[in-house]
Amino acid sequence: MKIRKAVIPVAGKGTRFLPATKQVPKEMLPIINTPMIHYAVEEAVNSGVEELIFVTSSGKEAIENYFDRNLELERFLEVNGKHEMLKTVHRIGTMVEIVSVRQKEQLGLGHAINCARTLIGNEPFAVILGDDIILHETPITKQLIDVSEKFGAKSVIGVMEVDRNETNKYGIVDGNFLDGSKSTLLMNKMVEKPRPEDAPTNIATPGRYILTAEIFDCLKEIPKGVGGEYQLTDAINMLCGKDQVYAHIFKGDRFDTGCIDGYLDATVEFALRDPQTRKIMEEIIKEKVKKYNLG
Ligand code: UTP
Repeated sequence: MKIRKAVIPVAGKGTRFLPATKQVPKEMLPIINTPMIHYAVEEAVNSGVEELIFVTSSGKEAIENYFDRNLELERFLEVNGKHEMLKTVHRIGTMVEIVSVRQKEQLGLGHAINCARTLIGNEPFAVILGDDIILHETPITKQLIDVSEKFGAKSVIGVMEVDRNETNKYGIVDGNFLDGSKSTLLMNKMVEKPRPEDAPTNIATPGRYILTAEIFDCLKEIPKGVGGEYQLTDAINMLCGKDQVYAHIFKGDRFDTGCIDGYLDATVEFALRDPQTRKIMEEIIKEKVKKYNLG
């Protein structure tokens, strides 16, 4: 079955970016001039997703507005001859069909995904967490879709290896590599944020999933987990007991833009990658290294 839909949960409170997130959705914070949510939506579109479902909460309207047309702005750009920017702005407003559903109480990622239940129906779907930007010429969601389709539209979790002492920041998977594969595992279980000494492996998920609709039965059954929230990890763990669930080590550079460290990292890196800003960033870095006696 083709994967046509993706869920992007954006209902979180974004407390690590307070006070900005008191008023601005975390997902709208820009890396230079592009809001982080833009990368998630572009990833979905470039992976062949046809319909996007945002799980939102009060105060997140700016995200939906960003992906809507802004005719007044488009006219302004046209009249002023800003044709390149007009193309960009027009494309953002037309690139994909978006619907949204409200998560009325922030009870965790598992609860947020469950809010999309009726919009998903009975088909497999992708989940993309917008505060992790992952870049590769083959978008990570496409990489996971390919693995899922190979196994007959099964669930596939995007994973990466992390330092042992960082397991308590992630959902950690346990499983066995398939014969002859160094990147795809058949999963036995998944644990949310285990302490390093309790972690079954150092294979972690940063927030990319292909899930079958059976996940909704699991989400209905799980109790509250780590942090008193309904954890998607616990539902995936339950799914492992009912069906084959795979984990796939993806290719790409990952930036955890949901925290200050990752956000700064992405800002510097993206400026260095873009020929238009590279020189400026190089000069800034050199000057700061001198000024603060770094390195
Ligand atoms: P985070 O753990 O990053 O939480 O959620 P957060 O609220 O966004 O940020 P902090 O930790 O307070 O700084 C991971 C993803 O799950 C969504 C968030 O929007 C984010 O994309 N989420 C989380 C929900 O949609 N609903 C929830 O109840 C919790």
